[in-house]
Amino acid sequence: MNNRHDVIEQVSPINLVFEGHAISAQEGETVVTALLAANPGYTGTSPVSGRRRGPYCLMGVCFECLVEIDGLPNQRACMVLVRGNMTIRRQNGLRPLKPRGLQK
Ligand code: FES
Repeated sequence: MNNRHDVIEQVSPINLVFEGHAISAQEGETVVTALLAANPGYTGTSPVSGRRRGPYCLMGVCFECLVEIDGLPNQRACMVLVRGNMTIRRQNGLRPLKPRGLQK
């Protein structure tokens, strides 16, 4: 029978890059939990006031955790599972609603 420690040992570490700094995550966790564990200070800035923002609800409702993942803006960090070699950047201010490749 597995106990908690057995499960933890079975999880593979995943390496991410946040704002140019390497951070470690565990397979199956979300980007936001990896960022919170790495203590990034903030994940973006408000498009209205410019104030620093950070995750709040952790369930996809508040949109306070928007980040850029692998060049794609407007990603809710709490709704995306970590993948190896993800590059994550703070989302500062307003971004286009469509990815650049889909705009005319
Ligand atoms: S923390 Fe609220 S949507 Fe991600």
